[in-house]
Amino acid sequence: METKVNSHRIATSDDIEVSTYLEIAKEIQGEQPVSQPELTPAIERETILVIDFGSQYSMLIARRVRECNVYCELVPYNTPWEKVAPLQPKGFILSGGPASVYEPEAPLAPAYVYESHLPILGICYGMQVLAHQLGGQVALATKHEYGQAILHLSAEESPLLANLEPPLTVWMSHGDRITEMPPDFKALAYSENSPVAAMGNDNGIFGLQFHPEVAHTPQGKTILGNFLYNICGCKGNWTPRNFIAESIERIRRRAKDGKVICALSGGVDSAVTASLIHRAIGNQLTCIFINNGLLRREEPERVLNTFQRNLKMNIVYVDASERFLECLRGVVDPELKRRRIGGEFIKVFEEEAAKLGRIDFLAQGTLYPDVIESSAAQSRVSAKIKTHHNVGGLPAKMTFTLIEPLRHLFKDEVRKVGLALGLPEDMIWRQPFPGPGLAIRAIGEVTKEHLEMLRAADWIVMNEIKKAKLYRQLWQTFAILTDTKSVGVVGDDRTYGHVVAIRAVTSEDAMTADWARLPYDLLAQISNRIINEVAGVNRVVYDTTSKPPSTIEWE
Ligand code: XMP
Repeated sequence: METKVNSHRIATSDDIEVSTYLEIAKEIQGEQPVSQPELTPAIERETILVIDFGSQYSMLIARRVRECNVYCELVPYNTPWEKVAPLQPKGFILSGGPASVYEPEAPLAPAYVYESHLPILGICYGMQVLAHQLGGQVALATKHEYGQAILHLSAEESPLLANLEPPLTVWMSHGDRITEMPPDFKALAYSENSPVAAMGNDNGIFGLQFHPEVAHTPQGKTILGNFLYNICGCKGNWTPRNFIAESIERIRRRAKDGKVICALSGGVDSAVTASLIHRAIGNQLTCIFINNGLLRREEPERVLNTFQRNLKMNIVYVDASERFLECLRGVVDPELKRRRIGGEFIKVFEEEAAKLGRIDFLAQGTLYPDVIESSAAQSRVSAKIKTHHNVGGLPAKMTFTLIEPLRHLFKDEVRKVGLALGLPEDMIWRQPFPGPGLAIRAIGEVTKEHLEMLRAADWIVMNEIKKAKLYRQLWQTFAILTDTKSVGVVGDDRTYGHVVAIRAVTSEDAMTADWARLPYDLLAQISNRIINEVAGVNRVVYDTTSKPPSTIEWE
């Protein structure tokens, strides 16, 4: 059953079905088994606290510390001792920040940082805070130092700057500098513009004028490691396995014999949340998986296969595709689409939860950046561009107690935990997929026919990107079904069909993104396949805009 047009082979729907079937069959036959690793007993957690003075790099410090296998939390500089005492910190890091210590209202380190006699590392503004509070002098430098600099070590040896190889390139970003060190401090390093680029005393207090946490300081991680292991005495036992063991104990203590529900989305956060809770309390957990009809091809099968067949979890699967389509009928405004989808999701979820009888807890896959961001956002007003991530979330009026086992993890840590839990790599490395799904990628009204076209085009994009081994390097790759139609020609016939756009972006965090320079041959292959395999589409274009000024999604 093959047709030829302009010498391109048209894949028939049979081809797609076969590959689909094979992939599912492979999973069902256990070629990608979900193995459940043995549990290890939890080891006591070692915590480092980053006192945050508002630097754009504060969160990065926490990530780097965790990469050294030491647990780390970020707290605002004015956090009272009662809040941090339960964490039993083993040391403090004072972050950078935009202020000048000699200004009247400048944020300073709380007294407990010094009174605890624990090791302290001040970074950039944090170092100036140390100098200012411990009796030294800080003043405006005649020259701002911004960018890379070469660090020279003093004759004085220090455990902080041990095991480094010259040349030592570091990243500087400061306008103020230390003109007089506090009593008993020694200069440990200098640069062309900073006579005191690093300082320390014999009581475990150190300062760095440069930023060890950024990639532009290539040996920065060694320096942070020196502080953690040599100075704070940390052993580095913050590992995915230890986190899993610790979380299981914590979830068991918290949930006791209570019932927990969790909404599965197919994404990595909810998958890891559910698996962790399932490891802790087994069948006390019920997952609700709502198919809103806006998912990618094979997504529902994959989720059910992993969680129901392989992990034997209690899953309530609801195919609510028709309901979602109905509530999107005639809607073209992107924000209204989001609101309708969000509203319908809550309705379906509430109905299903009600059928389960008494529920004590609701599990959510909240991550650490959301926790930090939401507390910071309370004092910030920003323009609404898209109503985003709360869409598909659950209403505040729901009266369950929350269980959020990932609320102290960064995304890369969630992935590591997921892999250590034995979840399939496909699921762990899945690119982000928005809650409103294909509805915000089918421009204009969302109809069954449009969704089918988009799903077929999207499937081709995804397959070709995976075949080219580019899937993991790219932040997101997808097709958009535009509401523009254009004239084409097939054989001797004129066609009038949809324009599909391809979007492929690289990004670190979705705040900014660049369009991916995909190879022309790959673009040609994607384009040919879409034109030939997706009925109703006769033109494919590639989106070459970055964010800003565009956004990643088209709606
Ligand atoms: P934009 O389009 O704003 O997207 O550059 C940034 C990231 O957010 C995702 N996104 C959403 N995720 N609900 C979600 O859960 C939404 O309404 C939504 N809108 C955009 C988008 O896929 C990208 O990763």
